[in-house]
Amino acid sequence: MIPGSILFSIGISVGFLLATGLILAALLIVAEKKILNYGACRIDINEGERRLEVPGGGTLLSTLGENNIFIPSACGGRGSCAYCKVQVTEGGGMVSPVEEPHLGAEERKNQIRLSCQVKVRKDIKIHVPKELLSVRKYRGKLLHKRPLTYDIVELRIELLEPNNIDFVAGQYIQLESEEYNGHDRVMRAYSMSSLPSDKSHVELMIRKVPSGICTTWVFEHLREGQEVTFSGPYGKFHISGTDAEMIFIAGGSGMAPIWGMLRDLKERGIMRKATYFFGALTQKDLFFVDELAKLQQEVSWFRFIPALSNEPAGSDWKGERGLITDVVARYMPDCSKQEAYLCGSPGMIDACIKVLKKGGMTEDRIFYDKFA
Ligand SMILES: Cc1cc2nc3c(=O)[nH]c(=O)nc-3n(C[C@H](O)[C@H](O)[C@H](O)COP(=O)(O)OP(=O)(O)OC[C@H]3O[C@@H](n4cnc5c(N)ncnc54)[C@H](O)[C@@H]3O)c2cc1C
Ligand code: FES
Repeated sequence: MIPGSILFSIGISVGFLLATGLILAALLIVAEKKILNYGACRIDINEGERRLEVPGGGTLLSTLGENNIFIPSACGGRGSCAYCKVQVTEGGGMVSPVEEPHLGAEERKNQIRLSCQVKVRKDIKIHVPKELLSVRKYRGKLLHKRPLTYDIVELRIELLEPNNIDFVAGQYIQLESEEYNGHDRVMRAYSMSSLPSDKSHVELMIRKVPSGICTTWVFEHLREGQEVTFSGPYGKFHISGTDAEMIFIAGGSGMAPIWGMLRDLKERGIMRKATYFFGALTQKDLFFVDELAKLQQEVSWFRFIPALSNEPAGSDWKGERGLITDVVARYMPDCSKQEAYLCGSPGMIDACIKVLKKGGMTEDRIFYDKFA
């Protein structure tokens, strides 16, 4: 048995080391901000289309955001989502080890960088896609937060300022959480499930992620009537202009952009043949089944196929059973003429792409948003 006095000394030493580490980290942050004063830096965007004069020291991502230029960022600047890529033609410094795994050879040649990892320390020249320059920050009021399943809620937000949004079905916004329990505000991507024609509202479907910062805030702290802020619209996931038959595959909150797309197709009178494969574990993971069945009855071009992979044998479930990839392969053994629209976890999307390619679909006909 270790005597109490020794345990006490060990405790004091560990505490001392921890405190020293924290003080050093704080000093480094202060040094970065105050001692290493980079002064004012200029950011030139798209060969003079926009010019900013900004205090140096911040990341390119946050500095642009502070100046109302919103670059997508699904991981909140952790360097893991690779959504925040921009072309930095001058002044970006060396590619960091965090960026390396996310940049292919062609991207490096084209000076593509993760804007969350590039520090503004001198004048910088960048190129960003034109559509990002029209992304705006919105203030809205949460009208309702209603459960769709035990772990998915639907949010309906009324826009206050600006009071309308232009977007294409399939695009997403970046919702900003508030500070709570020591967590800073974070931005997270959520696909819009609402109709583009309803310009004064935005609807989202959000699944709770265990220990997730933004989703815990949504589920446990966000209240109806509360103000929310978000930026958008972002993304290139939308219905193509062809007349090919469409295969939609999504489960859980991955239904959000698909629900928006299907209703948008109906509203615009587009009659392209479409099948929606909705993959879930058990009956308690299903939602909007009645609404989708109703859509199937209302229009001749749409077919809805829900499938359960973990539903107990002998239950009252009458629909398809099995992994959604197997169900798709059963219904669509040859899908070389169709287009596919996928949404959900990276694992699910990669598995679906494999099956679709096996069925003869080429990659240029497969469109997706990975909830990475
Ligand atoms: C284009 C796009 C559209 C999306 N649309 C939707 C949608 O419509 N609906 C939806 O539900 N989701 C959607 N997502 C996913 C969403 O953006 C968030 O990633 C998700 O809600 C989790 O956010 P969070 O803040 O709750 O979790 P996070 O705090 O980001 O945590 C995510 C996971 O990482 C772990 N983690 C947290 N911090 C760290 C750390 N420092 N290091 C390592 N791991 C950590 C957590 O424990 C958790 O398991 C979309 C994503 C993208 C990219
Ligand atoms: S914000 Fe995710 S990698 Fe930069």
